[in-house]
Amino acid sequence: MTVGQADPAWIEELGRRVEGCVPDWAPCGRVREVRPLTGGTSSLTFLVELDGVPAADSTVVLKVAPPGLAPVRNRDVLRQARLQKALNDAGRPIAPDVLFSDPGAPPAVPPFMAMNLVAGECLEPLLLPAAKRPATARVRSRYLAAARRLAELHRIPLADLGLQDEPVAALAEEIDRWTKAFRTLPEGLRGNFETAAEALHDTMPQALAPVVNHGDYRLGNVLCEGDDLTAIIDWEIWSVGDPRVDIAWLTYFTDDAGHPAAEPGPSAGTPTAQEVVEEYQEALGEALPDLDWFRALTRYKEASLTGLLVKRAHKDGRVLSGAMARMEPALPRLVDEALELVGR
Ligand SMILES: Nc1ncnc2c1ncn2[C@@H]1O[C@H](COP(=O)(O)OP(=O)(O)O)[C@@H](O)[C@H]1O
Ligand SMILES: [Mg+2]
Repeated sequence: MTVGQADPAWIEELGRRVEGCVPDWAPCGRVREVRPLTGGTSSLTFLVELDGVPAADSTVVLKVAPPGLAPVRNRDVLRQARLQKALNDAGRPIAPDVLFSDPGAPPAVPPFMAMNLVAGECLEPLLLPAAKRPATARVRSRYLAAARRLAELHRIPLADLGLQDEPVAALAEEIDRWTKAFRTLPEGLRGNFETAAEALHDTMPQALAPVVNHGDYRLGNVLCEGDDLTAIIDWEIWSVGDPRVDIAWLTYFTDDAGHPAAEPGPSAGTPTAQEVVEEYQEALGEALPDLDWFRALTRYKEASLTGLLVKRAHKDGRVLSGAMARMEPALPRLVDEALELVGR
């Protein structure tokens, strides 16, 4: 189900469930309305309007796991809530705070979590037509702010978040995760992935001390107001692992990175990939080695992730347009680029 397909009766029932949780957070709070916000691929996002709470709290954002599916991995909204709450409890409010949550009875009754509505817009400049982009100077400021904010996230000691015992996602597992996804793709979408997987394993650098990684860190998953970031959102695939996974991913949405989904036409005004790395390193206080390997991993991951989305679209009979239509024929090339970046 996508959020657009959610039927009114289902939404009403969701509203009743939310109403049951509100008193734990706001004793006099009542649900006035639940309405769809967007339909992500892993979870559904709703806005909840409340009466009986201070005006500043009267709209909250609800993330719901898709009904009918086990709420595991990227669908595990309570796992996202755990991290967001840990960041806020540790006095690092870089994610929306968690107001209440409910485990439901999955898969039929999906879990949900509610967070505060943060001001700001959520735009990925590279993937938008020029008319819908912020001014180029603003794009540049936001991108560099995002690089500094990532360093801030990566500098938080795991113990401050109670994550010192969280399993660390080893680099080999990062490769294998996307290889597993490639294996499920039809021939035309997977390119030379087995060779690339082997090359990535053969050239894997030594891992650095683990940090909290967002997993899909880019301007399209942060909220911005003016030149600044107000919050990092969409923590669906956070993990504890090597910081270079996130910074390499962030640099892939710059004008010069050659992302095949980029909107044709004028550049968006992003800094160069190198400038993003420099801004991040300066805020982090150290230089990171072997970034080319992580740029290769980024392309491998992007090809695999997008391959899954394209496969699902084909299965549902949807015609691809825009960025996704540009991506489909480029997937095998991304795998080849990964090979080149590791010198194969
Ligand atoms: N806490 C929040 N405050 C304000 N807007 C939010 C919040 N969480 C999500 N959104 C909005 O909902 C959209 C989708 O959220 P996101 O978590 O990125 O899910 P997905 O990309 O999987 O649809 C975002 O682009 C943003 O506009
Ligand atoms: Mg998102």
